[in-house]
Amino acid sequence: MPLLAIETSCDDTCAAVLEGPEVLSNVVSSQGIHDRFGGVVPEVASRQHLGLVAPVVEDALARAGVTIGEIEQVAVTAGPGLIGALLVGLSAAKAIAAPGRLPLVPTDHLHGHVAANFLDPEPIAPPFLCLLASGGHTLLAGVRERSGFEVLGQTLDDAAGEAIDKGARLLGLGYPGGPALESLATKGDPGAFDFPVAMSRDPGLDFSFSGLKTSLVYRCRDLGESGVEAHRADLAAGFQAAIVDQLAAKLVRALDRESWPAVALGGGVAANGPLRRSVTAICEEREVRLKLVGLDLCTDNAAMIGSAARFTEPLRYPDYLEFNAFATGERR
Ligand SMILES: Nc1ncnc2c1ncn2[C@@H]1O[C@H](COP(=O)(O)OP(=O)(O)OP(=O)(O)O)[C@@H](O)[C@H]1O
Ligand SMILES: [Mg+2]
Repeated sequence: MPLLAIETSCDDTCAAVLEGPEVLSNVVSSQGIHDRFGGVVPEVASRQHLGLVAPVVEDALARAGVTIGEIEQVAVTAGPGLIGALLVGLSAAKAIAAPGRLPLVPTDHLHGHVAANFLDPEPIAPPFLCLLASGGHTLLAGVRERSGFEVLGQTLDDAAGEAIDKGARLLGLGYPGGPALESLATKGDPGAFDFPVAMSRDPGLDFSFSGLKTSLVYRCRDLGESGVEAHRADLAAGFQAAIVDQLAAKLVRALDRESWPAVALGGGVAANGPLRRSVTAICEEREVRLKLVGLDLCTDNAAMIGSAARFTEPLRYPDYLEFNAFATGERR
């Protein structure tokens, strides 16, 4: 029963074909156009999706060796995300599903990041604790069933990925900043500058990253242009370490609070090498199973949306013609 999934919540136009938990194709077309603005421009993203969505879907079908007539279900990200960008994907999904009266599965993007862990190879089954860190969200999810999750703690201000992108920009790196910051940090000493690991004394499971970003702003101001240039790698290493340390500390606190048989990661920041190594060490020490998906399933992709759709109630034709995307809030 091949399923076609579409994801357009931000700046990546994505389509995937799944057969159960098996990913037959997973195409991501990233819009490099935002680099020059130092971040995603919503209106530009929507227009880019308009041009890319049809060829990306066609490419996903061709790579899977499946024709459009063989698709039995269509899944699409309904939110949260940029509303204009979401509407392009949702409209495309409706247009593909409606002529054949196929069911449509409006899917939650964050559920998708968690559900990437249900895909082959070696899918994980609930219950598990999932640290989800992306460009727009940072939270600890208690996953007790495949159809959703409970938010145990979340960021009170910036998301980890947002802080990473802003920090990278301050250090003169392009957008998205994560991979560039990680690469620069390998050449630096994380102990050269002291960055605050926020919320370390807070007994809860919430996160905060805006103070860390401000501290990098002050460091750069104090060092001046030439000082920043001379210490860019050290600044990147220290800043990245402070983010990873906070994420790891809250994960440890969640494991201390409640016994979880397994841990998983989700979201673009889960592609970060130092974070993956830190979480691996935590899980080894506690003898807890760790599930790490490949880097291509951490950042936005449609395979994870297809995976979440497998555990979401589909809408029947014509009910979904009225269905609307949502920018924030509502989680199915
Ligand atoms: N290797 C890496 N190290 C650190 N951060 C990374 C790495 N690779 C990607 N990121 C970060 O991941 C974020 C993108 O993740 P993702 O695509 O899941 O976010 P999003 O979809 O924009 O946000 P959300 O999922 O919250 O709606 C960016 O902030 C990017 O810098
Ligand atoms: Mg995402």
